[in-house]
Amino acid sequence: MRRQNIAWSADGSVIPEAEPHTKAKHYIIETYVVNLIHTLYGKSRHGVTNFTFIDGFCGGGLYKDPQEKDMWYGSPVKIIQAVREGYKKSRRNYPLNVQFIFIDNQKEHLDYLKNHAMPRAGLDELCDGVVHTFTDEFGTRTEKCEFIQGEFEELIDLCILKADLFKGHAFFLLDPWGWTDVSMESIRKIHSLTKSEILYTFMIDFIARFITERDTNLQKAFRDILEADGYYDLKKITDLGSTSVQCYLRNESMRLFREKGKFKKAFTFSMVPRGDTRPLYYLIHLSKSLTALQVIKDSFWQNNNSFYQYHFEIYGYTFRTTDFYEENQLSLEFDITENNYNYSIKKLHQQLANLIYSQEEITFLNLCERTMELNPANRKQYVELINILRMEGDIEVIRNDKLLNGKKPDLQKNDLIKQPSTKQLRLF
Ligand SMILES: C[S@@+](CC[C@H](N)C(=O)[O-])C[C@H]1O[C@@H](n2cnc3c(N)ncnc32)[C@H](O)[C@@H]1O
Repeated sequence: MRRQNIAWSADGSVIPEAEPHTKAKHYIIETYVVNLIHTLYGKSRHGVTNFTFIDGFCGGGLYKDPQEKDMWYGSPVKIIQAVREGYKKSRRNYPLNVQFIFIDNQKEHLDYLKNHAMPRAGLDELCDGVVHTFTDEFGTRTEKCEFIQGEFEELIDLCILKADLFKGHAFFLLDPWGWTDVSMESIRKIHSLTKSEILYTFMIDFIARFITERDTNLQKAFRDILEADGYYDLKKITDLGSTSVQCYLRNESMRLFREKGKFKKAFTFSMVPRGDTRPLYYLIHLSKSLTALQVIKDSFWQNNNSFYQYHFEIYGYTFRTTDFYEENQLSLEFDITENNYNYSIKKLHQQLANLIYSQEEITFLNLCERTMELNPANRKQYVELINILRMEGDIEVIRNDKLLNGKKPDLQKNDLIKQPSTKQLRLF
């Protein structure tokens, strides 16, 4: 056993502290899972009822929280709690069936999770590995937790099989300590499931350092595990602190996961440590559907802080966590700032105008498909902006062959958006 890697001891005498970027990551995971359940299970007429949540690097589930002088739950507990919250929020009268699979290669971590973290969160009954049925005022749901000790890469086929048999939607949280623990082949296996997505902690700074220092020990991993030959051209990576290089690293990472990992939609959150211009890691969201991309953007806006807006092109959404936490002594409820909102609308305006005015007409769905990854705006902001432009006479929206009227109608995917037949364009 690699004793030096023990972060949680089974007896609870050793547990790690929740660092600011860890907490920020947990906020995203939590918000996203609530929104995911609410959107897929709770919003359509009869939504998805079966979900598999795989936390492939789950850890011990509980941290010390120095800022709050309290304890802080880790990803496995937060995922279960978020599923329950999403279920309650959905208020549906058909069942929700969820299986949770928690993997860690350290037995002590899993022991700590089962014996300390889960009981502390009131989840001890789920530690027996059998299906539990819960009935409450909303209806019925089933939950089952499995705890598996082992290397993620050796367990991926089992995970795929379990998710496939369970049917429904599969969400993978991949949160390793390094970039050599998840292969591109595993990413593709997850992609092969009909409905699947990944939230992956991708250690970009370790990769940047490897690329510039060319550590020979890692070359094989770079080529065979990450399959990154032909990406991250060393000639273009001069000063790691410069924004152009950071922009390049992000774009190459997106290209890599889209091309080799097969996921068409990739989106990043960057975790930038205090005083630095370099993200330590990206939280990359990989999905196949526009809906998932919209939900992750909504989740960001719910957990927004004011430090990302001028860096969108370089980092995607950014959390400058340490500065923010330390300097603001914050309560962790972020508000959407005026600045972020204005920046987002401005970016969106440019992109939509380019598309709308370069062709005769375009559907709302097509507009979203073509731009959703390229700006920070969420769906609500798309609808707001299109309605403003429509009200000002800069565009027309046609639904079922009629002009759309009204102040704030929601938009539908087949709505046609075009420049007005009678008015000269004045968007720029
Ligand atoms: C960053 S921690 C996970 C933290 C957790 N996801 C959270 O947010 O609370 C990474 C965990 O992955 C485990 N781990 C490292 N390499 C692994 C591997 N190859 N397979 C499975 N687990 C691994 C470590 O023991 C550690 O508990």
